[in-house]
Amino acid sequence: MTPHNNAKLGDYAETVLLPGDPLRAKWVAETFFENPRQVNSVRNCLGYTGTFNGKPVSVQATGMGQPSLSIYVNELIDTYGVKNLIRIGTCGGLNKRAKVRDVILAMSASNEGTMYHELFGKFTFAPTADFSLLRKAADLADQKDMTWHAGGIVSSDSFYQPLGLAAYKPLTDHDILAVEMEAAALYTIAAQKGCKALAICTISDCLITGDEIDADQRQTSLTDMAKLSLELAAS
Ligand code: HPA
Repeated sequence: MTPHNNAKLGDYAETVLLPGDPLRAKWVAETFFENPRQVNSVRNCLGYTGTFNGKPVSVQATGMGQPSLSIYVNELIDTYGVKNLIRIGTCGGLNKRAKVRDVILAMSASNEGTMYHELFGKFTFAPTADFSLLRKAADLADQKDMTWHAGGIVSSDSFYQPLGLAAYKPLTDHDILAVEMEAAALYTIAAQKGCKALAICTISDCLITGDEIDADQRQTSLTDMAKLSLELAAS
């Protein structure tokens, strides 16, 4: 149906979770969905639809980085009519108050990438989460006693920054909490197309302390984040 997606019209729910990793999409569907069925297999960038607490929900992998995410998100909205897009991923901590395993609800996503720069002429656009999704996610995280922070993150184009933490100084000087690689494109496309978006990211590594999540913690954190985002999707 699209160059990157062989799902049929109607195969996606209105609300889609967006992990970067195709195997994480498969894991979310097979672990948490009632009646999961695979809807996309192109390039092994897997997509699934099922229900959670009786409500239709999908999960679609986006690959890594803003250019890859933008392909899947544009097509999900334009071809498949998706309305609510919830990124679930990991991020690198850039701020002392945000520790490894904490969850970041990204209110805004500053952008290192240049994909959308020319759109705004002399202006700087501030890619922003949907407030209703953000508020519900925060309430659910509180109910679950999760440690979470709402604030600004930055979407970088480089996982390997030659300058490391120092590269982010202008942003950490402005209280940016964490770095990942996709949210700014998600928020920008959602704003263009009248859709709702939120990025929920677990801190997998801290660029200040060098702390990293271990394998057990990673699985527990992913489970907590998946449950939170699924309850949000079904709310
Ligand atoms: N940089 C970019 N993306 C990330 C990181 C990072 O350090 N950690 C997890 N996602």
